[in-house]
Amino acid sequence: MQKRKESERYDVIVIGDVFCDIATMPMPGYPERDKQIGCEFMLSIGGQAGNCAAACASLGLRTAIICNPGNEMLSNWVISELQKLGVRCFTSISEKEDHPGITVSIAFEDGSRSMLSDRGANLDLKAEDMDFDLLHNARFVMRAGHWNTEGLFTVNRILLEFAQSAGVYTGVDIGWSAYLGWSARAKETVFAFLPYTDFLFVNEAELEGLSVNTKGDVQELLNKGSKNVIVHQGANGSSWITHDSELHSPAFNVSMISPTGAGDVFNAGFIYAFLKGKEAEHCLKFANACAALHISRRRRKNVFPTVEEVEKMALK
Ligand SMILES: Nc1ncnc2c1ncn2[C@@H]1O[C@H](COP(=O)(O)OP(=O)(O)OP(=O)(O)O)[C@@H](O)[C@H]1O
Ligand SMILES: [Mg+2]
Repeated sequence: MQKRKESERYDVIVIGDVFCDIATMPMPGYPERDKQIGCEFMLSIGGQAGNCAAACASLGLRTAIICNPGNEMLSNWVISELQKLGVRCFTSISEKEDHPGITVSIAFEDGSRSMLSDRGANLDLKAEDMDFDLLHNARFVMRAGHWNTEGLFTVNRILLEFAQSAGVYTGVDIGWSAYLGWSARAKETVFAFLPYTDFLFVNEAELEGLSVNTKGDVQELLNKGSKNVIVHQGANGSSWITHDSELHSPAFNVSMISPTGAGDVFNAGFIYAFLKGKEAEHCLKFANACAALHISRRRRKNVFPTVEEVEKMALK
């Protein structure tokens, strides 16, 4: 690990997965087997943590990421793109995998997509790579990409408990469990840290996957200790649910070009507005606008929304 200055202070420290994403422009349908068809690729930073950190920095938050990108050309590309956006990267070297996580995403004109993912060096991110002094000085610790960073399963609870007890807000976005499924054991790895999670970000499918008794029941997660559940609802917008309140905010009407990273950029927008002390309604609206902007433009370069762009959109 790189040497860190104890005096370094960040608004947000994102801990989790980084990927190199290769996504097609929306296509009419799935290519037939044994046929080759032409398409246009967009190459971008990916991973839940990678996207969230990139978007936080683009909004002007002082942002750091703790991740394991591997140690080869593609790893260097991912890190240099994050650095260009202003993200301070604390990276560890993988002992097992050289390459970063890689996702190939095939997008369709109806807004859906199929993804193939190789977690690469993300699996090697581990407890020893965490820096508690760094966390202690942050305003928000965001744990993203739970399933892609299995090496942190044993330390997630400790990390979040530590941050929360130091007065740092904690957030988690676990993402879709593509590898372990939603078995009781897999769910336990999430339930263990819910008492130390101020904001749990989930989409409706994950909510259903996580539930034990009633499908998609947010109350179950609140009862297990999460203080706030923020639900990503795609084209329906988002909701903020606590034990005694429920707020919904509709999505912005945009044409989708690339759905990749919508949830992560939403999370960054939410964290930004929350840290600025905005009202709940404004936080959801700002986050919806951030995500809408991101999914409605071509990812030729690693471009993420800026505050000016989001405010312009939110005022529409
Ligand atoms: N079709 C859409 N139109 C407008 N806004 C959208 C659309 N799809 C997503 N969004 C915005 O993006 C946010 C997050 O998207 P979504 O609900 O798909 O999250 P997710 O499934 O967690 O995404 P990801 O796969 O990136 O993790 C939504 O809450 C909404 O604000
Ligand atoms: Mg998501």
